[in-house]
Amino acid sequence: MTVWQSQEFDDHEHISYFTDRETGLRVIVAVHSTTLGPAAGGTRFKAYECDSDALDDALRLSRAMSYKSALAGLPIGGGKAVIIGDPDKIKSKDLLHAYGRFLNIIGGQFATGEDVGMATADIVTMNEVTPYVGGIAASGAGDPSLHTAVGVMHGLLAVLECRFSQTDFSGMRVAVQGLGAVGWGVAKRLRDAGAELVVSDVRADVVEKAVRILGAVEAPLDRIHAADVDIYVPCALGGVVTKQSAREIRAAAVAGAANNQLETPEAGKILWEQGILFAPDYLLNAGGIISALEETIRIRGGSDSDCEPLADRLANIPARLKSIFQSSQEKGIAPELVAEQMARDLIGR
Ligand code: NAI
Repeated sequence: MTVWQSQEFDDHEHISYFTDRETGLRVIVAVHSTTLGPAAGGTRFKAYECDSDALDDALRLSRAMSYKSALAGLPIGGGKAVIIGDPDKIKSKDLLHAYGRFLNIIGGQFATGEDVGMATADIVTMNEVTPYVGGIAASGAGDPSLHTAVGVMHGLLAVLECRFSQTDFSGMRVAVQGLGAVGWGVAKRLRDAGAELVVSDVRADVVEKAVRILGAVEAPLDRIHAADVDIYVPCALGGVVTKQSAREIRAAAVAGAANNQLETPEAGKILWEQGILFAPDYLLNAGGIISALEETIRIRGGSDSDCEPLADRLANIPARLKSIFQSSQEKGIAPELVAEQMARDLIGR
């Protein structure tokens, strides 16, 4: 399959394929738009079933990064990279260095940070050979997952207000799917704010920890979307809201960190028809890229002295979400369609 045949192709500006035989590195870097600034986005390291799945993921995720940065008001374009392979089997210092050197070749068109399968330590390793990385404590705000979790909590406050006319989480039942870097941070903050938790993760150890420390109730992996809760918070992988699962969701709102939660536009339509409020993921999970603003400006030799403080930038997330929800109500169309149109206007598409 060629790039142009992919359903996810959206006139992406640039797609690079890099291979390093010695380390087994195969990586696709997709730059969707640089209209608002040079592209930035995480690198996902994953054992894809086939190469076309990897390409689709890179194309889809890079477009979402364009939308995310645009709606967060950042002077940053949208890009994303995917490394094909099982990180537990092939990730090595040499492979990360080879990838870093490839980023130097496309020098400055794309800067990256962690995503699923990559940790802050990996980005630090890449930084030994390339300046085009962010999300490390030495040069910036540190682990983006922490800021993403804070941003999700800010966004959930907008959901509380708009869907439940409430200003706090006490008495709210929330299902958190995926207790990784972001999901754990969200679950812990929700518990501290008074919410009752239902959780799931493929890792039994983190579920056990959530039950023990956070007083959470475990849900079966394949049923957490249908848990009897007020809010369903997907924080694992994307595509969890399918045409079928959308019909089974009992929560009144779906709002989480996972990228590309709606498997198809039809799944979003089903949520909308059932009166379930969907918070577009790229608005809710913008904390990571928002936290990387200073680094991204500095990597390109600019001055970050005019940047609003990070805490204030994160605290802007609810206002943006509320305006999308309001516009959705006024226009009678689903929030993700309003958000997409706004983002595309901003990037001139
Ligand atoms: P992570 O890899 O640390 O955590 C993902 C967790 O989900 C892991 O604990 C994993 O065991 C679990 N998981 C995997 N499959 C599952 C399943 N079928 N059911 C339940 N749990 C499952 O990843 P991280 O960083 O927490 O990211 C989570 C999501 O948020 C991803 O979709 C990512 O793209 C998105 N995101 C992350 C950002 C960040 O700053 N880390 C920024 C924006 C989006």
